[in-house]
Parts: sequence; structure tokens; C-alpha cells
Amino acid sequence: MSTRYPGAAITGWGLALPDKVVTNADFEARLDTSDEWIIERTGIRERRFGGTTKSLAVEAAQAALAKSGNVGSDIDLLLLSTTTPDQAVPATSSAVHDELGCTGAAFDLNAACAGFVYSLVTAVSMLGIGYKRALVIGADTLSRITDQEDRGTAVLFADGAGAVVIEARPERDLMLSYDLGLDGSLTSILCCDHGGYIFMEGREVFRRAVRCSVDSAFKVLKDAKVTADDISLFVPHQANQRIIDAAVQRLGLAPEKSAIVLDRTGNTSSGSMGIALCEAADQGRVADGDLVLLSGFGAGMTWASAVLRWGS
Ligand code: ACO
Repeated sequence: MSTRYPGAAITGWGLALPDKVVTNADFEARLDTSDEWIIERTGIRERRFGGTTKSLAVEAAQAALAKSGNVGSDIDLLLLSTTTPDQAVPATSSAVHDELGCTGAAFDLNAACAGFVYSLVTAVSMLGIGYKRALVIGADTLSRITDQEDRGTAVLFADGAGAVVIEARPERDLMLSYDLGLDGSLTSILCCDHGGYIFMEGREVFRRAVRCSVDSAFKVLKDAKVTADDISLFVPHQANQRIIDAAVQRLGLAPEKSAIVLDRTGNTSSGSMGIALCEAADQGRVADGDLVLLSGFGAGMTWASAVLRWGS
């Protein structure tokens, strides 16, 4: 067992998606785009719009709590990864904390689409200073900050949430390695002003995304002293199927090891990797002891990867 990081285990997981399905045909009907272009260039077939960041976060968290056999008051640490808080102040985690009846600390964390892994690593670290049970939620409502008349972004971004319960378990080695980073000189290629819409230099983000998430994933594999062959499940940020395919190929991973929800969810930013991990876990794609590689990137530009050992 690794002794490098606090012992912990993921004991529950859950996801939430709004009811309203928006298909490529819906965009085709009102924008200069086509189902064929969207599928070929992004891999997205449909996405979900609706809800608030709080409502999606609470729904995902309740599912994760139920699976872990805990109730809200068992949680003493809540981290909400989001780029779309419902209010500027207070943090949306305050409302989620109240609704779930949690105890202890709660805060929002904004590392864009890498935020779920940033939050996971933060939670595991904080278990090392005495917290017992952490709820890590990634939730975003990007449809609210996307210009629905801009074909370059409207077809990509959507709403959703994923959550995990992480419990202190001194005998378990959940986190084998992690890598958190960012290049703050790249803020202007993907950004959104208060009250405005997402601006993105798509081609540049694409180029950087492949490079930074592959480098980061290689680093965590090396630090964990494992190879791509040892990984049972790859959970990439769900932004573009071509980015995922390029990463899978460069990392030497078998394509069938990837957890993909992008075709049905679009890019849900902080929600993305949590949703993909939860769906794969629900489908029984990870067993006790299996290694999971998570790797993502986002506005900032941030990136984050981790190798986790699955099992409670
Ligand atoms: N339908 C039809 N044509 C379109 C559409 C659309 N929905 N969107 C753009 N186009 C056009 C462009 O206007 C351009 O036309 P032009 O050649 O006449 O100028 C043409 O398609 C090609 O545009 P590119 O931007 O070069 O297309 P590309 O193949 O790069 O695909 C995309 C665009 C999908 C945005 C891609 O660049 C991408 O996915 N980039 C990464 C985005 C990403 O990962 N963002 C998330 C970051 S995470 C976060 O923090 C939220």
C-alpha cells in the first residue's frame, strides 16, 4: 500500500442531468450547422439543458450519499467544483450544504473543466488533516453562459453534475498519484466575463488541450509507477471526441477503456468527469482494486490528472 497520501476510499457516486434533451437537429433547425458537422467535429449527438447549479449538485450528491450509506449530516467536508455558481456571493456550496444538512466546511472551487480532479485531490488532502467524509461534486450549468445564437459554442456546452463520497480509510490507497497545473498566460483563449457569454478560440484550445492533458496523464502514470496497460478505466474530460481519441492514441490506451458520455451530455465542464466516472461505475466497469486514470483540462488553462485505485 502507498503511504504517500492519506488513506481513503470512494464509497458512493451519483450523477444528475436535466430532463430537457437538446438534439443536434434542434440546432440544425435554427443555426447554420448540421447534425453531420457536429458529430464529425465533436462527437456530440445530444445534450441536456436546465436546472440550477445547486439543484443538479444536490441531486447528484443525494444519489452519491445513498449509495455510500451516508446521510448529509455524516459529511464534514463539501467541495463544489463549478464555473457557474448560482450567485456571485455566497458560494453555491453554502446552499448545497444547507439543503443536504451537512456539517463542517464547504466551499466552491473553480478550476473549470479540470475542477473535478482539483476537488478530488483537495478532498483527499483534507482527509489527511482530520476530515472524515468528503462530498466532492462537479456541477455546471453552462447553457446559461453560452450564446445560443453562436454555432461555434452553442452546440458544445451543456448542464449536468457528478458527485462522489470519499471517506477516510487509513488502510486504503485511493490516490496513487496526481498532477494539478495551469498556464495562466492562456486565460484569453477561453473565458467569460460576468454577465457575458463564453468566448473560445476553439482551434487553439484543441491544440493545447491534447498536449497538456497527455503530458499530465503521462506524469501521473509515471509517478504511480504504472503503465497504460495497468489502467482499467480512463476518464477523460468530455469536451470533444477527437481530443479524447488523440489522447487515447498517444497514451497507448485501449480505446474501449474510455468512459464516454460526451455523445449524450455535451461538455458539462466541472460535471463532465464526475458524470463519466459515475456512469462507468454504475455499469460495473470498475472492480475492487482496478486502477482508474482521470485526466482533464479547462479554462485557465488548467489541467489535472490522477491515478486512483477503485474500491471501498
Ligand atoms: N457548425 C458548422 N460549422 C461550424 C460550427 C458548427 N456548429 N462551428 C464552427 N463552424 C465552422 C467555423 O466557423 C469554421 O468555418 P470557416 O472555415 O468558414 O471559418 C469551420 O467550421 C472550422 O472551424 P474550426 O474552429 O477550425 O473547427 P474545428 O474542427 O477546430 O472544431 C471545435 C471546432 C469543435 C470548437 C474544436 O476546435 C474544439 O472542440 N476545440 C476544443 C474546445 C474545447 O475543448 N473546449 C472546452 C474547454 S474546457 C472548458 O473549460 C469549458
